[in-house]
Amino acid sequence: MSELIQYRLEDGVAFVGLCRAPVNALSQRLRAAILSACERAAADAEVKAIILHGADGLFCAGADIAEFGTDAAFAEPSLPDTLMRISEIDKPVIAAIGKLALGGGLELALACGYRVGEPGTRVGLPEINLGLLPGAGGTQRLPRLIGAESALNLILSGEQIDAERARLLGILDRLASEAKHLLDEAETYARELIAMSAPALPPEHCPRPAEDLPDGFFASFRERQESLWKNRLAPRLVLAAVEAACLLPLREGLARELSLFKQAEASSQSQALRHVFFAEREAGRIPNIAPDLPLRSIRKVAVIGAGTMGGGIAMNFVNAGIPVMLLEQQGAALDRGLTMIRKNYEISVKRGKLSADQVEARMELLHGTLDYAELADADLVIEAVFEKMEIKQQVFRTLDRVCKPGAILATNTSSLDVDAIAMSVSRPQDVIGLHFFSPANVMRLLEVVRGKATAPDVLATTMAIAKRIGKLAVVSGVCFGFIGNRMLEPYSREAQRLLLEGATPAQVDKVLTELGLNMGIFSMQDLAGVDVLYLIRQANQAATAHDESYCRIGDELTVLKRHGQKSGRGFYRYEGRERQEDPEVVALAERLSQELNISRRAVCDEEIHDRCLFMLINEGIQLLDEGIALRASDIDLVWINGYGFPAHLGGPMHYAEQLGLERVLASIQRYRSELGAYGEMWFQPAPLLKRLVAAGKTRIERF
Ligand code: 3HC
Ligand code: NAI
Repeated sequence: MSELIQYRLEDGVAFVGLCRAPVNALSQRLRAAILSACERAAADAEVKAIILHGADGLFCAGADIAEFGTDAAFAEPSLPDTLMRISEIDKPVIAAIGKLALGGGLELALACGYRVGEPGTRVGLPEINLGLLPGAGGTQRLPRLIGAESALNLILSGEQIDAERARLLGILDRLASEAKHLLDEAETYARELIAMSAPALPPEHCPRPAEDLPDGFFASFRERQESLWKNRLAPRLVLAAVEAACLLPLREGLARELSLFKQAEASSQSQALRHVFFAEREAGRIPNIAPDLPLRSIRKVAVIGAGTMGGGIAMNFVNAGIPVMLLEQQGAALDRGLTMIRKNYEISVKRGKLSADQVEARMELLHGTLDYAELADADLVIEAVFEKMEIKQQVFRTLDRVCKPGAILATNTSSLDVDAIAMSVSRPQDVIGLHFFSPANVMRLLEVVRGKATAPDVLATTMAIAKRIGKLAVVSGVCFGFIGNRMLEPYSREAQRLLLEGATPAQVDKVLTELGLNMGIFSMQDLAGVDVLYLIRQANQAATAHDESYCRIGDELTVLKRHGQKSGRGFYRYEGRERQEDPEVVALAERLSQELNISRRAVCDEEIHDRCLFMLINEGIQLLDEGIALRASDIDLVWINGYGFPAHLGGPMHYAEQLGLERVLASIQRYRSELGAYGEMWFQPAPLLKRLVAAGKTRIERF
């Protein structure tokens, strides 16, 4: 028997334990091993029932994602064939689901006649997050078990549901009393089934899955969802597969599912989303830091400044059960901050996401103070005061005096030099940047800014604590804007320049949203505050002073107090939440073009796409070359999670690879020569991009 399976026979019951750590991903070898163990049990007359389980408890996280895009994905025995064979065994097969059954793991369980979970088990079909649909019977067997509509909702949401809900829906037949009794109770179940001569496959709960659906359900569902799905392929394929489950016999439905699955698997969208999956796991690995480096213990956190960011940052920690001391300069500001936090929680109560008791428990973990002495035992302090170097340095000097040795001192600065902040204390090795994104309690991204002196265990500890509070942490070196905002600069510069050359904000935004970005750059600037971005530019003036057209329209809008959504006018005019193109902005652009001697013309969508996106990409490649980003995929994560770049394009670096690096370089060179002095100044291909193209490389990597 393969080392991937533990097989034992006990008094008529065969136990088939999957052992491919860490999550029993169903690689070709594991599929073959499961099949052969099941055949052995099927052929053994002594075996009356079979229990499939995870040898270490955890059942199965699905198909091996690393095999997709390679021949191994469909190599014999394929997952659908393996599961078909299991469903044909003429003895009861029971899935004993420890911890989780996801994707192909749940499909494996669905191919069994019976399913037992343990308290805390999570089940789901998250394939949609990978641009896929369940491809081993999930879209056919689940509707026959729980009805088409429930199955559709589960598959389209990719949601992982808990054991109790799975039992109520009919996915699990039984729940073990405790996780440690799962196998024993699965065995009891098996013996009951043997005793009652239960059929190998019980009758389908919903042999006609669409029975309760109104006429035209699928057509109207499609119509309602189309706009939400934008240009994503997978949801459309899911719908087609579930519709097939309602129309076709099982075998034909499975064949239809497989063909739709192969279409999804071969799509660039799925390729991109699989890239994102592995990128997220890779982001936590830091070169030259051993995974077993001892970490500092973080039991108490302090946050300085109870404003927009400080409040949100504090919420993250109390949500994870970590006590937080929130420090302000004055009582009124502290009260305001605490009230705002409570208000945010109350919104969650109204939405049914938290109970009133949970809110009280969280508020109890939060202690306001005006006295730095109370921070003496904090393990991690995060500063979120005004964005002024003198103020931050002053705060850090105070922290240096009051904090215990070994406390990690972090700054949430978005644009100041973390090394300069570190220089203000006697322990720069303990200083790090933790750049949360707004709203800090919601946004998943956290840029972890490693200073020159930051100690390895400080970095490793902050990465671990980020995971504990549910953030996706990406390491950045120190530079103006770190990874995300530094790339935002050329992107935003190009967009603004295009307005002077003849485009309108709505035209530019439309090109970007049609590509799949959550928001166009001008809607985003209006949301962030045109004035806020102006101040950031002022702080970075040295880099841009030689170009008088640089974000000029944003500067003028700031002077006109058109600060964006908050003032009802910015790049657009707002009536309530409604956004409208504003002729005044177009007139302003015309006036500035004249003043700056920029000739206006009709700008085509392709030019908008190439100039905005390729300048963004070029800056990303430069950041990689400078070592600010550790890897191209980290840059992708920053832009997907912090700036609404579509995950199904894989982030800007992956998108560039898909378009072809040669095309990106050629376009930059073209605008360099076509846009005169402006092109000469800004359209400078990153040296790394030139080197990659010259060497015929198709992937963006340091080279
Ligand atoms: N295939 C290959 N590798 C997988 C995997 C999978 N399905 N699921 C997890 N892994 C790997 C991860 O890459 C990681 O490897 P690393 O240590 O080398 O980086 C390791 O397992 C542990 O994963 P995590 O770091 O994510 O561990 P967590 O404990 O945080 O999360 C998990 C575990 C909830 C299982 C999470 O990994 C997950 O969500 N996995 C993906 C589940 C999924 O999407 N399944 C569907 C696959 S597609 C499919 O089944 C198609 C079918 O319908 C035909
Ligand atoms: P804010 O103005 O809402 O809050 C700052 C708070 O700090 C105020 O409540 C103020 O009373 C308090 N404060 C000022 N000096 C203090 C001191 N010496 N001691 C204690 N408290 C003091 O500002 P916001 O937006 O929360 O920004 C805070 C920091 O976060 C800044 O460095 C900013 O650049 C950064 N940041 C802001 C983001 C945003 O979108 N607002 C995003 C990411 C980072």
